[in-house]
Amino acid sequence: MAKEAEYAIEVENLTKRYGDLLAVNDISFNVRKGEVFAFLGPNGAGKTTTAEIVETIRRPTAGKVRLLGMDVTEEKRGIVSCIGVLPQGFGSFDRITVRETMQFYSRLFLRRNADIDRLIELVNLKDKAKEQYMKLSGGLKQRLGIAIALVNDPEVVFLDEPTTGLDPRARREVWEVLLGLKKEGKTVFLTTHYMEEAELLADTVAIISKGKIIAMDSPIGLIESNADYLVLTLQSVDEKAFEIVGKMGFEPELNNHKGINIKVEQPDDIRKILNTMTDAGVALLSMDVRKPNLEKVFLKLTGEALDEGAPGGKEAQ
Ligand SMILES: Nc1ncnc2c1ncn2[C@@H]1O[C@H](COP(=O)(O)OP(=O)(O)O)[C@@H](O)[C@H]1O
Ligand SMILES: [Mg+2]
Repeated sequence: MAKEAEYAIEVENLTKRYGDLLAVNDISFNVRKGEVFAFLGPNGAGKTTTAEIVETIRRPTAGKVRLLGMDVTEEKRGIVSCIGVLPQGFGSFDRITVRETMQFYSRLFLRRNADIDRLIELVNLKDKAKEQYMKLSGGLKQRLGIAIALVNDPEVVFLDEPTTGLDPRARREVWEVLLGLKKEGKTVFLTTHYMEEAELLADTVAIISKGKIIAMDSPIGLIESNADYLVLTLQSVDEKAFEIVGKMGFEPELNNHKGINIKVEQPDDIRKILNTMTDAGVALLSMDVRKPNLEKVFLKLTGEALDEGAPGGKEAQ
């Protein structure tokens, strides 16, 4: 039995080499019990390597890694009975139905008493229970994969890029399922390269780039500590608005909703812009002030954009 540990996952100075390649470079982090912890980073950053070391599938080159107090090199069997895994690029038996698949995995995991119907409902696949795997859309396949990861009622669930390549609606439907998991109090280790996903789901986000964790905090904490500007959004029917802001020395940008986004460094700039608009007789339909999102934080910290177009992800937004 696992001894009582404060953290679900403890990683100290983990390094993983593949020959000359340093895939994970001396990283340390802890995952609290019951939290959703997201590893956010582009392809090749070392996300899967780290996850699979914690899952006991790969061996660390150096460092200490524990799951629920158990060491990943010494207590593999104890660990695997406490975890559920949705691997990156998950696939299952083409012609086997959702229900048959779940029944098979429950036997495989020696969990014949698993409440398969409840799991199928949890991932919103009740209407598809008799559908063959190959007939499911990408989002439904991923949801089946999540249900499989839950068959052994694991304490810690690993989801490696659960929404990569899905269209925005399918992605949102997977998020619904993940929010449900969160409510059940599962500890979730999530890897993703979607900002929005990390921002919505995670209690803690670790930004990983080239095998190094370069920042780690709550999504809001990351934004607060890295945002040195605000984004003012104005909506006006008057076309002069854009020109006026430009003449004031700011760099306005048109957004998707025919509004204007203006990056301002001082809160006082907001007052100046609004006063100038009033003086010029420009009526504003709406205004909004926001901190930048995680995407901007990522760019600032790494100097690189996240690769949104995942392999085979032609549907990716
Ligand atoms: N088994 C392996 N053998 C050799 N190189 C590997 C292996 N697995 C991953 N890599 C390399 O290690 C780096 C990190 O990969 P990975 O952990 O899959 O990153 P991510 O999941 O963030 O995309 C990449 O450069 C990848 O090509
Ligand atoms: Mg990966």
